[in-house]
Amino acid sequence: EGEPIRVVVTGAAGQIAYSLISMIANGDVFGTKQPVILHLLDIPPAMGVLEGVCMEIDDLALPLVKGYVKTTEPEVAFKDVDAAFLVGAMPRREGMERKDLLSANVKIFKVQGEALNKYAKKDVKVLVVGNPANTNALICSFYAPSIPKENFTAMTRLDQNRAQSAIAKRLGLCVSNVKNVTIWGNHSSTQFPDVFNASVTSSDSSKSVYDSINDTQWLEGDFIKTIQTRGAAVIQARKMSSAMSAAKAAVDHMRDWWSGTASGSWVSMGVISDGSYGVPKDLIYSLPVSISNKQWKIVQGLKITDFAKNKLDLTAKELLEEKEEAMAVCNA
Ligand code: NAI
Repeated sequence: EGEPIRVVVTGAAGQIAYSLISMIANGDVFGTKQPVILHLLDIPPAMGVLEGVCMEIDDLALPLVKGYVKTTEPEVAFKDVDAAFLVGAMPRREGMERKDLLSANVKIFKVQGEALNKYAKKDVKVLVVGNPANTNALICSFYAPSIPKENFTAMTRLDQNRAQSAIAKRLGLCVSNVKNVTIWGNHSSTQFPDVFNASVTSSDSSKSVYDSINDTQWLEGDFIKTIQTRGAAVIQARKMSSAMSAAKAAVDHMRDWWSGTASGSWVSMGVISDGSYGVPKDLIYSLPVSISNKQWKIVQGLKITDFAKNKLDLTAKELLEEKEEAMAVCNA
């Protein structure tokens, strides 16, 4: 058994963390041989609930957990951490637009960026889940200049999982038969879930999703709309935002970053853009990435149709606006 790594979860008393913590503790993210010390950050009114969560961590009786730190102080939470799940933020409620959340939430990520900069390991891997996730990740990175920009990512894996599952369901297949679905852009209703380069595989064959489904109208209409608005649909039904599936997506994202992707396949992550696919530089934009040695690389050479190009531009425009608003809030 190796040395334990330190993993911070913010919003540790919240509903996503409630599922996420048990999966980290179980070895689903960093492997079943990697011990962990959990750093749990939340705000003062949540400390009673967090105390209960810590009691349950004890009661999970999982051998990989070598300890936990429960705190309201970013300097304690981020001290020497190897990985960070930044979940804590104000969640979107029914009828609320993501934009309303922006000014409240980016300030949290400014403070946490500064704390990561000062206290975390320089190779810390940061996954931002709290919304607006892409822009929060950008702000966090901006205030942590001593940590490489590549180490800050935003979660669009839930969107990818939703899209993959919807395609599999439509075809009556298992999700594992659907490969290389891409989410482009913002984790918002402007995101572009793209299956043009995705394939459906069985034991001995591989066929494009477009050929398999053979209904371009659905693929470029209802399918996209359904994925873009899935978060709102879950809120309407559950009166609370996606939590179980969001936690699972965070696990998928960090596990693949830690352990790599299979050859020939890619996943979607909000990462710092470098101009690939005509996306403006220096946005945290969801792109197809392949991963090895804990380093992600943007997958190059995918076919972008005119239909797709339009959608890529639209979501970039929203991210540029969010960036501008966020910077104004932080500088005020
Ligand atoms: P929740 O309200 O159940 O939990 C959030 C927790 O964060 C609360 O315990 C709260 O006290 C805490 N918190 C607030 N400010 C904090 C701060 N400054 N530092 C530390 N903790 C703080 O919300 P839930 O459902 O767990 O969602 C968390 C976030 O994840 C929301 O912003 C939500 O919109 C976002 N989300 C993102 C998804 C994605 O795909 N990127 C999917 C689903 C949710």
